[in-house]
Amino acid sequence: MRSFVGTKRSEYGPEISGAHWINGEAVAGSNQFKSINSSENSDVVGSFPTATDKECRDAVEAARSAFLKWKKVPAPLRGNAIGRLAKVLEREKESLARIITREIGKPYKESLGEVQEAIDTAQFFQSEGRRLYGQTVPSELPNKELYTYRRPLGVCLMITASNFPFAVPSWKLIPALLCGNTVVWKPSADAPATALAFALCFHEAGLPPGVVNVVFGGVETGESLLKLVDEGKIQKVSFTGSTKVGKKIGEICGRAVQTPSLELGGKNPLIIMDNALLDKAIPTAIVSCFGTAGQRCTSTGNIIIHEKIYDKFKDLFLEAAKKIKIGNPNKDHNVLAGPLFSERYLTTFLEHYDWGKKEGGRLLLGSGRITSKNPYPHFSGDPDAGWYVTPTIWENVTRELRLFQEEIFGPSINLVKTKSLEEALELANAHAYGLSSAIFTEDARAMLYFKENIEAGMSSINNSTTGAEAHLPFGGTKNSGNGTRESGVWVLDSYTRWHAVNVDLATQLQLAQMDVDYGTARAPLSFSDWSS
Ligand code: UN1
Repeated sequence: MRSFVGTKRSEYGPEISGAHWINGEAVAGSNQFKSINSSENSDVVGSFPTATDKECRDAVEAARSAFLKWKKVPAPLRGNAIGRLAKVLEREKESLARIITREIGKPYKESLGEVQEAIDTAQFFQSEGRRLYGQTVPSELPNKELYTYRRPLGVCLMITASNFPFAVPSWKLIPALLCGNTVVWKPSADAPATALAFALCFHEAGLPPGVVNVVFGGVETGESLLKLVDEGKIQKVSFTGSTKVGKKIGEICGRAVQTPSLELGGKNPLIIMDNALLDKAIPTAIVSCFGTAGQRCTSTGNIIIHEKIYDKFKDLFLEAAKKIKIGNPNKDHNVLAGPLFSERYLTTFLEHYDWGKKEGGRLLLGSGRITSKNPYPHFSGDPDAGWYVTPTIWENVTRELRLFQEEIFGPSINLVKTKSLEEALELANAHAYGLSSAIFTEDARAMLYFKENIEAGMSSINNSTTGAEAHLPFGGTKNSGNGTRESGVWVLDSYTRWHAVNVDLATQLQLAQMDVDYGTARAPLSFSDWSS
């Protein structure tokens, strides 16, 4: 990977002079914003330009002209390029993970996992270049053949969030490129260095100029790019982020008669039945709620606990939550969670204590921001240097409360009591989202009931609501998404359109439905003809 050009050095490494990546070249741009190390705010990771309307347009035009050539590259050869990307990512796994941890403060082990998920995705799609199957379909007329082909869409605009700055973009870019599309990517303004590093990996893998373009900026840059959907310059938008923004993108794409891929929020339920194996359920619930400081869209939002074991679960869960190690993940690789990824998240997280208490939630654990004046016993590093918060647990939370209904996007969880499996499922579905879900039970019938009644795109039995694997379909229902899926073979439907072709080799005109000889397959056949 080409090394970053930096001037100033901190103990973390050079301060990156960021640039857009358009048509295979670094474009310096203007109106710089800074990317700050979330764990240690005095460390500036780099400065990045904010894309102007013109730069957005240039990136899209570069992608449009590259598309004309890239779509003609045979799919197996596009697969080879993705295979070369997998090798670059494998070689750079540790350096990329260090950038992720430095920039957004995710524990190093999780950052390694993010890069691994991108490697898995690249390896999966490398061979898909040799499949990308269409079908041969029988015709109702003689001397006629029917086929289906997957065709690429054109320019794909990817808009991604800060919480998975590497794995989630890989779910989008890799299959889109494999299918023959070209890409303009606007990563989160909280994770531009990670995105630039990823773009350089694509470059090193030998993807031609214009096939992958990256422009930096915030909401306004996203809006400038989305205007080009209205102009017909972009054929597909894939977005991961909030439901509020996802709905706006849905409207824009709807006007252009396009289906975007929308991966949105969640309020993921974790049901604990009375026969759950608590030795496994407790540590799983801790990771599911507080891992990544609760900043996964798949993080658990409500734990729904059978009344028979409510008190026992509560005691054990509280005891375990009080032992969670939090701190600077750049310096201590054993912390379960680092900081919140940006100051924005801190502000909204702190607000939830006020309205949560006002509406009647009982706070069992949690005191907001960790600082030297509000210390946390298992903290590693300087708490004042980043946006660290305590694990937070509420009870007395009923389904009407905002605490129950809204995604908090931080380490905050509600304990909700239930009388029965049926009521547990009602509660698990009693919110607007439908992304992930989980149940702990040893009863096979309860597992079946859960699978058949839960309204979610993804479900775990005796496992965390988090932790999707790279080759299963990822996505949600209700307000969590519009039904599109990422990952595995299912994502191919998001980045290709089906093309149905018929070839008629008859010497005379023959019309479907009208010239079909329906009689030949009926009389004189009878059941006795089949048995003789
Ligand atoms: C997200 O939070 O946007 O299932 C994606 C998981 C991850 C992906 C989460 N592999 O937790």
